[in-house]
Amino acid sequence: MKNQPNVRNFCIISHIDHGKSTLADRFLELTETVPKTKMRPQYLDLMELEREKGITIKMQPVRMVYALDDVAYILNLIDTPGHVDFSYEVSRSLAAVEGAILLVDASQGIQAQTIYNLELARKQNLVIIPAINKIDLAQARVEETKKEISQILGIKEEEIFFISAKLGTNIDKLLEAVIKKVPPPKSDIDSPFRALIFDSKYDPFKGIITFLRVFNGRIGEGEKIYLMSTKTEGEVKEVGYFKPHLVPEKELKAGDVGYIATGIKDLGRVRVGDTIISFKAKVQNLRLPEPLPGYQEPKSVVFVSFYPENANDFNLLKDALNKLRMTDPSFNFELEKRESLGRGYRCGFLGSLHAEIITERLKREFGLNLIISIPSVVYKIINVKGEEKLIFSPIDWPDPNLIQGIQEPWVRLEVIFPRSYFGKVSEVLEKLGGEYIESKFLGETRTVIIYNAPLREIISDFYDNLKGATQGFASMNYEVLGLRSADLIKMDILIAGKKEEVFSRVVPREKAYQEGKRIVKKLKEFLPRQLFSVALQAAAEGKIIARETISARSKDVIAPLYGGDYTRKRKLLEKQKKGKKKLKERGQIHIPPDVFLKMFRSGPL
Ligand code: GTP
Repeated sequence: MKNQPNVRNFCIISHIDHGKSTLADRFLELTETVPKTKMRPQYLDLMELEREKGITIKMQPVRMVYALDDVAYILNLIDTPGHVDFSYEVSRSLAAVEGAILLVDASQGIQAQTIYNLELARKQNLVIIPAINKIDLAQARVEETKKEISQILGIKEEEIFFISAKLGTNIDKLLEAVIKKVPPPKSDIDSPFRALIFDSKYDPFKGIITFLRVFNGRIGEGEKIYLMSTKTEGEVKEVGYFKPHLVPEKELKAGDVGYIATGIKDLGRVRVGDTIISFKAKVQNLRLPEPLPGYQEPKSVVFVSFYPENANDFNLLKDALNKLRMTDPSFNFELEKRESLGRGYRCGFLGSLHAEIITERLKREFGLNLIISIPSVVYKIINVKGEEKLIFSPIDWPDPNLIQGIQEPWVRLEVIFPRSYFGKVSEVLEKLGGEYIESKFLGETRTVIIYNAPLREIISDFYDNLKGATQGFASMNYEVLGLRSADLIKMDILIAGKKEEVFSRVVPREKAYQEGKRIVKKLKEFLPRQLFSVALQAAAEGKIIARETISARSKDVIAPLYGGDYTRKRKLLEKQKKGKKKLKERGQIHIPPDVFLKMFRSGPL
């Protein structure tokens, strides 16, 4: 077996804000991958939205070269997002590497999602290199963090690195540990070509560009390829590496992380997680090579409907969703038609932050004004005839008289926080209407609580409440458990007497009043005032259960007439009254697109 002994493929597992992008920047500098004059912070975060939010959404791979003891090593770093919604992206990067740096902020300690991702990495037998970051901070709790990590990993404290990504402290030692500890890829150059697609993007000239890890053989320009799961043929237009921009090369070999421009234009044909082989191999071997493992089918748990505000924009929306799906195959969409809203799409997401990011991208990258529904989980409804139906949107909630039973998804929640907040965290958890499972000590100062709860509650404002109760110190992760019975009802929102379907939501029967009040209050805050007063109402099972009023925005029609004659004033005031009445009759209240965004933005971030 011939492999590439000087190649190392690795990723960084860390929580949001623990310094992954900053560490990657130091690596880029140290290896002189990016000239100093071109360096800017968070170099690998290419998306505008990422730089603005300061979070990594999309991973951008990079190939670096570093000499150690006179040997040049090729180091392929795959950046990974730290947020719970994106563990799917993490799982893809893990399948493409042999090692991972576990990066933990010394002032925060290890977080719930990091532990989850660490488990994924260990299942794949990756070599884990633990590093504690931000040791320069006055509030760094290096000793405690060290104890926590060694407890979780079951390793000696001496194996942990202490770094400051900001100041560059010990960065060279960490990179050298990657070379020494992570094994070279177990890949055979002499066998038939086989590679795993871990990402892709669209190029109007070269077709779909697949980002991949080559496991066997080699591939170069002009060769024919075959995508196994979609049974698609293509021809290699170009191959190359990430520096981190795409740089063409003659060929890619087993062990490499690189890209192939496939010439394929049909967006549905290239699936992340698919295996590419050479067409020759397909023709010659009647038995095809096994597809590569390590791929996890993304599972949508949160659903949101989008309708163009202007019906003529429907094709734009369709096109935009297709393009976004290219860069993010973890969301999906289906056509939806409604009398009140026209044609739109129902999209499935990994979580509410994921939903929010796609929504923002639709607005920013495609300039679309959209009507957006409240995020929903999927419900199973059993009707009086005993038939089962899945409901993805509260708008489709059946007549309560026809419902015999309702089931909703539950999750196993893991929350980590400093022990001093135990009482406050318990209070927030109790509101979920779930069940306490257990709590454990983590190191000397922190606690882990396991709690089972309905997912519906988690995608609402739970995370905000948790953060609020702990001054931002709590972190959480969840895994879907399955469906459980629930006593739920649909709540409608009426604006000036007209039902606004996209604001409908499903709530527990015993919380309906409370929720109704909360929602109309929120709406009052977000909706701009009109020339007339507007009633905001929440209704459930045929009854109004909450009400707020937005008072009229008065236009001072008589202001220009100071000191003037009284009848003229009265005439104007009467005219204004009439105008208001007219507007009211039409019941036309324009809801600005950002109100939809604000209404659904109560999920985690
Ligand atoms: P995501 O992209 O959201 O996953 O975050 P990240 O893990 O990439 O974090 P990022 O590198 O953006 O760093 C978050 C913040 O921590 C930034 O303000 C950095 O300047 C700061 N930071 C990173 N490393 C250090 C460090 O070693 N010391 C100090 N004091 N600050 C650091």
